[in-house]
Amino acid sequence: MLIPDGRKLLFSSCVFVLLAALGTGLARVVAKSTSEAPAGFNTPSFNGAQSISNGIVEPAGDTFARDQQVYEQNKAVADGLGPVYNAPSCVSCHQNPNSGGASQFTELRVGHNDENGNFVNPTIFINDGKNTITGRSIVNDRAIGPEDQEHIPSTENIRALRAALNTLGDGFVEAIDDTTLIAIAERQPELSDGRVHGEVVQAPIFEAPGQTRVGRFGWKDQHGSLLSFIGDAYLNEMGITNRLRPKDATTVHKTTKDPEDQPDELGLADIDHFAQFVRGTMVPPRDEVLAGTPAAKKGAEVFRRLGCNVCHVESITTAPPGTLIDGGTFTVPEALGDKIIHPFGDYLLHDIGTGDGIVQVGPQDTANKLRTAPLWGLRTKPRFMHDLASLSLENAISRHDGEAREPARRFKELSPEEKKALITFLRTL
Ligand code: HEC
Ligand code: HEC
Repeated sequence: MLIPDGRKLLFSSCVFVLLAALGTGLARVVAKSTSEAPAGFNTPSFNGAQSISNGIVEPAGDTFARDQQVYEQNKAVADGLGPVYNAPSCVSCHQNPNSGGASQFTELRVGHNDENGNFVNPTIFINDGKNTITGRSIVNDRAIGPEDQEHIPSTENIRALRAALNTLGDGFVEAIDDTTLIAIAERQPELSDGRVHGEVVQAPIFEAPGQTRVGRFGWKDQHGSLLSFIGDAYLNEMGITNRLRPKDATTVHKTTKDPEDQPDELGLADIDHFAQFVRGTMVPPRDEVLAGTPAAKKGAEVFRRLGCNVCHVESITTAPPGTLIDGGTFTVPEALGDKIIHPFGDYLLHDIGTGDGIVQVGPQDTANKLRTAPLWGLRTKPRFMHDLASLSLENAISRHDGEAREPARRFKELSPEEKKALITFLRTL
């Protein structure tokens, strides 16, 4: 559901429930309403005992603290780390300001275009050219031995850096119905004189082979299910094969047996603990004190007036508890269903002139599109945009072009006072 203001929805849905209850006398049956998702930076790193989840029910025998511990574990070569990898744990890249957040980590992606201008994944040589790595655009910066190190041929001339993303609150994002995201895309042209038209892409669900879902995770919306993203990340970031991604990028130097990620005594593999951890995190909280100041309130109005909220959508409501998602493999739990979130994003792809040239699950026209950066948690970042090349919010806004040219132009024309108000508002997120 696309709505301008979460509080209004909360209010109106309560009124609706109240009226329905009065009208039918069935208060017990209809006394269910949407509510705000719990917010907080409540997963202090390496201190899971202090962590508070969003209330998601744990699998038998499991705890949120244990999920976090597995998420923070450094893996060794004997556990399957590598042969090529980027870092030894999830938390290495997702830790600011607490476990599950974003960080300054950027990753390299490369490739080239064929004679028809279509993006092609690179062929990366390792082991003095005796072996190759193919089938993916990501290049790992580390390897467990010098022979495995990936080196980029000059012919792979499309190169991009992409920042690590925030994952706090992503369980709520997963619980958004496909139809909600499609409806947001369909409304954008009329909200913007036809300038903005978010693209929906379908992403494969690895845990439900043959099925797809509206992509919403990653800079290219390359995944629609958290478990799928995480299976991919365990292989492509850490080199650890798992039941969803059972083959390493290379077997040079490999000594372990696949899949390297095996179930523990609870029957849960590491990827299950990671998914449980991410699904259990609260959404990034606002700076409520700053948000209450006149400047921030004025900035919020300016944000809407300029049309920033056409893409940076303020409020979205998740699907009701009990909804089957991820190709029928996951049921939206009570803790994540019927919740209002304020991601300041639409989870759709747009060409705002900063595209990185890489194609993943979408069609070729997505080469120069990126997912609208969700702005929740923005105040935890010192550098901005997918490449982290913007050192100020003003610079990040000034790089908006293409579908976002009009709001960016209108930002430039603001009075100094209104500009300051808008930046103050952004600092509350
Ligand atoms: C080397 C750094 C690194 C490591 C290690 C890493 N990630 Fe990430 N993560 C990233 C980057 C970079 C992105 C954005 C990727 C993209 O879209 O190209 C990302 C994106 C994600 C997303 C999508 C978030 C969103 O809202 O779209 C999830 C979920 C995620 N990572 C989970 C994990 C888990 C779980 C692990 C451990 C198995 C992990 N990551 C390990 C760097 C890392
Ligand atoms: C057409 C959709 C669209 C509109 C309209 C739009 N943005 Fe964005 N915004 C994006 C996309 C896509 C990105 C990510 C681009 C990238 O990383 O290269 C982004 C990134 C950002 C970022 C960087 C966030 C981060 O975490 O690095 C900020 C800040 C931002 N936008 C603010 C604004 C403001 C303020 C406005 C209105 C003046 C606006 N945007 C209008 C799509 C849009």
